[in-house]
Amino acid sequence: MRQVRVELGERSYPIHIGSGLLSDAALLRASVSGSQALVLTNPTVADLYLERVLSAFTDVDVDVHMMPDGESHKSLEEYGRALDFLLSKRHNRTTTVVALGGGVVGDLAGFVAATYQRGVGFVQIPTTLLAQVDSSVGGKTAVNHSAGKNMIGAFYQPSCVIADLAVLASLPAREFRAGLAEVIKYGVIFDAGFFAWLEESADKILALDEAALAHAVARSAEIKAEVVASDERESGIRAILNYGHTFGHAIEKLTQYGTYLHGEAVAIGMVQAAIYGCLAETLSIDDGRRIRRLVERFELPCEPPQLSVESVLEAMGMDKKVSDGKLRLIVPVAIGRVEIRDADSKPLRQALEYSVAGASPLDGSSDG
Ligand SMILES: NC(=O)c1ccc[n+]([C@@H]2O[C@H](COP(=O)([O-])OP(=O)(O)OC[C@H]3O[C@@H](n4cnc5c(N)ncnc54)[C@H](O)[C@@H]3O)[C@@H](O)[C@H]2O)c1
Repeated sequence: MRQVRVELGERSYPIHIGSGLLSDAALLRASVSGSQALVLTNPTVADLYLERVLSAFTDVDVDVHMMPDGESHKSLEEYGRALDFLLSKRHNRTTTVVALGGGVVGDLAGFVAATYQRGVGFVQIPTTLLAQVDSSVGGKTAVNHSAGKNMIGAFYQPSCVIADLAVLASLPAREFRAGLAEVIKYGVIFDAGFFAWLEESADKILALDEAALAHAVARSAEIKAEVVASDERESGIRAILNYGHTFGHAIEKLTQYGTYLHGEAVAIGMVQAAIYGCLAETLSIDDGRRIRRLVERFELPCEPPQLSVESVLEAMGMDKKVSDGKLRLIVPVAIGRVEIRDADSKPLRQALEYSVAGASPLDGSSDG
C-alpha cells in the first residue's frame, strides 16, 4: 500500500492507495471515529462493493443511503434527500459520511458532510479512476444547479481517502480512459519525468498492470495534494489544475453535456491548449505533438466537434462583449510546466479555426 499525505495543517489527511484495500477491514474501520456512519453510494457501485465495505463496520451503527446513478442526480434535490435521511435516522454530530463511488457520489456526499449539523466526519472511497486521481482529493464538494455545474458547494476536506485499485477492473473502459486524461494533465502541468514515464508505460496502464496503475494513481494524487496544499481555495496556483478545462468546459457545454465524458472533453481541451501554446509561441511544436500523441495513445479524443469559432469563444467567456485579456488560460510552456496567462485573442482564434478546419500544427510526427 502507498500513502500520500495532503498537508493542510490540522486538516491534513492520508490517501491510501493499493490493490484490495476494500478487503482491509481494519483500515476501513479506522476511518470512522464515532459510533455512527452513513455510507452514501449508488446502485451500480453498491451491487459491486457495498457488502465488502459494510462488513468492516459490524460494530458501527451504520446506515446506507442510495442516490440514483448519473450526473443529473448531483442535484439539490438529491442533496436534500440525503439530509432528510440522516435526520430521519437520527444521526448526530459525531457521525461520518462515507462516500462510496465516483466523483458524482463523492461531490454530493462531501457537500452533505460539510453542511449536516455544520459539518460531520467525511471519508472518501473513490471507485473511478477520475475520482481516485482527482475529485476525492482536495476538498471541493458541490451539487449542480440549472444555472450551471457545481454552482452550490463548499470546500470540505475528508479525513481520509481510501483508493482501492482493484475496483478499477469493473469500471467501463471508456470511464477508465476518461480518468487517464486527468493523469496526463498532471504530467503536463507539473512533472516532465512523470509524463515521460506515462509515454513509456501506456501499454501497462491500459492493461491495468498493478504496479503501473499504483504509480499512475499515487503520483497523480501526490501532485494534486502538493498543488492543493499550497493553494487550498484556488486563489492562485491551484488554477493550473484546470489545464485543458477552459476549452473542455466549452465543448461540454456546447454539446449539452451529452456527447463527451468530462475526461474526454478535457483530453480535447488539453490538445487545444497545446495548439494555442504553439501558436502563441510559448510551447515548442515537438512538445505539443508529445501531448497530442499521449492523448491518442490512451485512446482519448483529440479533435473537437465541428463548432463555430464564435460559439466556442462565447462559451469560454471570450465573446465580443469581453475585451481582450479577460480570459485566463493555463498555457503549457514545456512538458511539465504551465503558466497562467491572459488569453491572446489572435492565437486563440487561430487555434479554434484550425480545429474547425480539422487540421492543426500538431498533425504529423514529432522530430523529438
Ligand atoms: N471535486 C472535485 O475536485 C472534482 C474534480 C473533477 C471532477 N469532479 C466531478 O466528478 C464527477 C465525475 O466523476 P466520475 O467521472 O467518477 O463519474 P461518476 O461518478 O458518474 O462515475 C462514472 C460511472 O461509473 C460507475 N462506477 C463507479 N465506480 C465503478 C466501478 N468501480 N465499477 C463499475 N462502475 C463504476 C458510476 O456508477 C457511474 O455510472 C463530475 O460531477 C465532476 O464535476 C469533481
